[in-house]
Amino acid sequence: NIPVIAIDGPTASGKGTVAQQVAKRLGYHYLDSGALYRLVGLASFKRGISTASESDLIPIAKNLNVIFQEDRVILDGEDVSDQIRQEEMGKRASEVAVHTGVRQALVARQQAFRQKPGLVADGRDMASVIFTDAVTKVFLTASAEARADRRYKQLIAKGFSANIDVLLQDLRDRDARDANRSQSPLKAVEGAHHLDTTSMTIEEAVNQVLKWHQA
Ligand code: CDP
Repeated sequence: NIPVIAIDGPTASGKGTVAQQVAKRLGYHYLDSGALYRLVGLASFKRGISTASESDLIPIAKNLNVIFQEDRVILDGEDVSDQIRQEEMGKRASEVAVHTGVRQALVARQQAFRQKPGLVADGRDMASVIFTDAVTKVFLTASAEARADRRYKQLIAKGFSANIDVLLQDLRDRDARDANRSQSPLKAVEGAHHLDTTSMTIEEAVNQVLKWHQA
């Protein structure tokens, strides 16, 4: 049975960075499940489809023509790595993610990332839905202020403009949407290790996850 480390948590909690580094240290594969929702957000946007229209979104989710190459994401032959990181696509991602049919359309694609020697999967429902038999389950959080601050720095570093108050509000809206949706709401599963990274460095968080995994 190929081992999976599931890392779930709210937006900008640092799970992406932590998950990638844990994967690197172990030589495991890495799944950024949020990227798939962002891609559905982007592909539908390009086709002029509303995030409210589940029946139009399902075929898009099913047929996503995407390649993950190192740290680049190629959609329909176009490098969209930066486009999907924009806040607007994060917002669209959380809107398309409320639809049951969209979530179901992405299940097999996510599970296909489980390959030898192992996988680190980052998202909202990795432990609760996609990899329920994950050997190590981590629920990663940080205060809303710390998360807004991290997202701000991330966006500025990518050359985007950003406003900390707008980000904080957007993050709270997204938290509420992720926690309150009927399908796979964000919550820690039983047996998950809780990791509050508000005053932790990435390195400390990575080491803690590795310690739990190797215990
Ligand atoms: O980086 P950030 O946490 O803001 O976003 P992300 O992980 O890229 O995910 C974007 C959105 O996709 C989230 O706000 C969720 O609504 C949704 N999502 C989900 O529903 N289930 C997942 N496994 C991953 C993301």
